[in-house]
Amino acid sequence: MPPRITARELPHFRRAGQVAAQTLAHVGHQLRAGLTTADIDALVRDDTARRGARPSQLGYHGFPAAVCTSRNHVVCHGIPRADEVLRSGDIINVDVTSEVGGWHGDTSATFCVGPVGEDARHVVETARRCLEAGISAVHHGAHLGDVGAAIEALAREAGCDVVREWGGHGIGRQMHLEPHVAHVGRRGTGLKLKAGMAFTIEPMITLGRPETRLLDDGWTVVTVDGRWSAQFEHTVVVTPSGCEVLTRL
Ligand code: MF3
Ligand code: CO
Ligand code: CO
Repeated sequence: MPPRITARELPHFRRAGQVAAQTLAHVGHQLRAGLTTADIDALVRDDTARRGARPSQLGYHGFPAAVCTSRNHVVCHGIPRADEVLRSGDIINVDVTSEVGGWHGDTSATFCVGPVGEDARHVVETARRCLEAGISAVHHGAHLGDVGAAIEALAREAGCDVVREWGGHGIGRQMHLEPHVAHVGRRGTGLKLKAGMAFTIEPMITLGRPETRLLDDGWTVVTVDGRWSAQFEHTVVVTPSGCEVLTRL
């Protein structure tokens, strides 16, 4: 059973969510063609420090950067590199997790670099809508399967698919806690949600096949078919009537 956030803890957790969201927005405003993913890492380090926070991902199981940057056919956990230059037409997910006051907020968005192709725009918009559909399914008494089912139905309707090998997770005083949050599922199945439970929803949506593979660096997850993937992530806390999205600005 995942830990439940108390009324006394919530303001601290909220703060971490807002700090992560502010850093992500800051990066979003700076993004343009010609920037490298290492530049994004530097932006995240500086902005996180400026807010009195720490990048939770840096050193996590040896992860070598402050942020995950996942471009085009990279599904998640891309490592920033000085030789990876953003080009007009690319899509790039920036995944920010910030620790402040002992609490973690985790949020990501996929940005379009300059004008992008029709397919790129479609997968990005579908991923954004899938996250919102997942959020809409959350309330006290709902099941985790309702969240996955809502995301899966929308993705299929849009002609896209959903990555199975990676999911959302409980979050709070640690970045990764129970439960695992699948982005596919059946309504009425899985963990029954209770007010105070906190987790992320972070659907990875593909234009082609949903199968992924891990690169030799041990982190970078890519689509097997090489087609593009997009992801959005929020940290939520279940409330009696719905949920509070801690990483919404
Ligand atoms: N923020 C990522 C997530 O959504 C965590 C990636 S772990 C890392 O769960 F070590 F790759 F950073
Ligand atoms: Co994340
Ligand atoms: Co996450």
